[in-house]
Amino acid sequence: MTGLSDSFQRPINYLRISVTDRCNLRCIYCMPAEGVRLMSHRDILTYEEIYTLARVAAELGINKVRLTGGEPLVRSGLTELIQMLAQIEAIDDISLTTNGTLLSRYAAELKQAGLQRVNISLDTLKPNKFKFITRHSLNLGDVLEGIKVARSVGLNPVKLNMVVMSGINDDELLDFAAKTIDEEWHVRFIEFMPVGGVSTTASYFVSVSDIRKRLELLGELEPCLPSVGNGPAKYFRFPHARGTVGFITPVSEHFCFHCNRLRLTADGRLRPCLLAEDEIDLKQPLRSRISSAGLKQLIEAAVANKPLRHWLAEGYVPKHRPFSQVGG
Ligand code: 5AD
Ligand code: SF4
Repeated sequence: MTGLSDSFQRPINYLRISVTDRCNLRCIYCMPAEGVRLMSHRDILTYEEIYTLARVAAELGINKVRLTGGEPLVRSGLTELIQMLAQIEAIDDISLTTNGTLLSRYAAELKQAGLQRVNISLDTLKPNKFKFITRHSLNLGDVLEGIKVARSVGLNPVKLNMVVMSGINDDELLDFAAKTIDEEWHVRFIEFMPVGGVSTTASYFVSVSDIRKRLELLGELEPCLPSVGNGPAKYFRFPHARGTVGFITPVSEHFCFHCNRLRLTADGRLRPCLLAEDEIDLKQPLRSRISSAGLKQLIEAAVANKPLRHWLAEGYVPKHRPFSQVGG
């Protein structure tokens, strides 16, 4: 295996696969209020097509896969897809990003199929605010139950993602931080990105340096060494805490120079960067039975097209797709 690397010599070994653009929530940071036009079923890749692509990508050097959405658990049979992906020998890390509402129902079978770990969106601990942020009457209790069950079936680690929004949930920073002290909670505080139709809410932005200052009212944050995880988050811990605190700074300090990822949209477009509009269509080639060699060339072309970095802080905001279609 040669391994994939882009034109800036970044090794690319991580594929995020959006399995659906549908979601049972409508989070204010992810979707515009009026909703988005949904893809029709025949427009989204079948599990067979995703498998074929993942197998070929694995031959090129992809060894890490994450399933995202929309909400991946609203697509039926997701366990089957995980089983299929787990059969690809070169893929040694399969993870899932979910809103957690359906997780208590599926966690055990997902784990058994080969899912290793899970990231769960959790932006508030207050039921009424949960309804406001998700624009939905589904229950915060379901998410909390999902977190418990995910842990109990052995998904590890279970990470919690909080998108911090000024005037919306930033009054809960210390509540989340306290959870990392008393319980084995791994909370990642994420800077709000003004993307895809939600840009009018740019005033939600709170920088990680601000978040960190506020958290340190609870105690000094010690860096976790050697650093935990190999993604964009930087991890810390309060003294004697059972869990950890992570910070993700897409806006104030981009981490693009270490980016190792590609994204596949539910409608089969390979996207070299979350925050750039460029995409390469793989669905038509797959449906016209392209050879493995042909597919490899397309994947390599997408990798070669990966931009050096995003320009969010400079005001460039991609508008074409909301995050709900690209998987965050
Ligand atoms: N800003 C920051 N993170 C976002 N996500 C989605 N939309 C945004 C945004 N506007 C991330 C969140 C969410 C995951 C699915 O994608 O972490 O939990
Ligand atoms: Fe990677 Fe693009 Fe995200 Fe930067 S913005 S970390 S290059 S996907």
